[in-house]
Amino acid sequence: MSLFKYNHFEKFSKLIYNNLGIVINDTKVDMLKNKLTKLMNKNGIKSYDEFYEFLLQKGHEELLINFFDEMTINKTDFFRENYHFEFIKQKKNFILEKNHRIIRNRELRAWSSACSTGEEAYSLAITLKEAFGDQLIIKILATDVSHRVVSSAINGIYPLSIHEEIDRYYLGKYFIRNANHYQVSDAIRELITFRVFNLTHPFPFSNTFDLILCRNVMIYFDAKFQQTLLQKFYQQLTPGGLFLVGHSESFINRQHHFKYIQPTIYLK
Ligand SMILES: C[S@@+](CC[C@H](N)C(=O)[O-])C[C@H]1O[C@@H](n2cnc3c(N)ncnc32)[C@H](O)[C@@H]1O
Repeated sequence: MSLFKYNHFEKFSKLIYNNLGIVINDTKVDMLKNKLTKLMNKNGIKSYDEFYEFLLQKGHEELLINFFDEMTINKTDFFRENYHFEFIKQKKNFILEKNHRIIRNRELRAWSSACSTGEEAYSLAITLKEAFGDQLIIKILATDVSHRVVSSAINGIYPLSIHEEIDRYYLGKYFIRNANHYQVSDAIRELITFRVFNLTHPFPFSNTFDLILCRNVMIYFDAKFQQTLLQKFYQQLTPGGLFLVGHSESFINRQHHFKYIQPTIYLK
């Protein structure tokens, strides 16, 4: 394997930033090098420069997809940051009073905008079904830039260890237990459409959402991109709709028009 030099770090981190918006700073040189080396070994490539050129050549799109997949951090859990799901359950009336579109259309449209392997979208689907299932049609769009995690999310198959993250009642009601795994039930899966979507791209949606989750992804972006995204999410939200972010994603020093409800919960 050739020597990994600083100019390699610069080239690859710029490629990642330009395509995903993810900032890889100097403290992550080793992390980047290890991920690159793993991919190069898998593809029988010995030089970092050669790998870079190879990625950009026509016909190597699949490798580029694998490369970007490898550069994302997909840590997630069922009911992660559970106060969001509790808020939805406890503030049903608040949600309906603020957003007249929901009652008018008898429909609630939500977007899990960096859904990783699906746990966030399934937790949301269970929460919304429990809260509004007999009143409203629930439609959830769940997107992520990584092809790998979206394919895995679509299957809705999870290890038996998820019983530690999910209330026993929900586990019994919405999951089918097999010998080695759980699978999310059809009643929940049919509420969600999974798609690959890159948040750096223009939002292609003609309808607004009543609820948008963008949790634990903006931390990987720089201030400029966060600012742009906040504006785009605001436009994509129905008036009276809710915007939920991760606990470490404060909007201090960012301009936005959202109304603050409580930490990590905003209203349009
Ligand atoms: C740490 S996970 C968070 C998952 C989930 N939202 C949660 O809070 O548990 C971050 C996800 O953001 C995705 N991501 C990173 N950059 C993205 C981009 N430009 N567009 C869409 N998704 C992106 C990653 O692929 C990863 O699955």
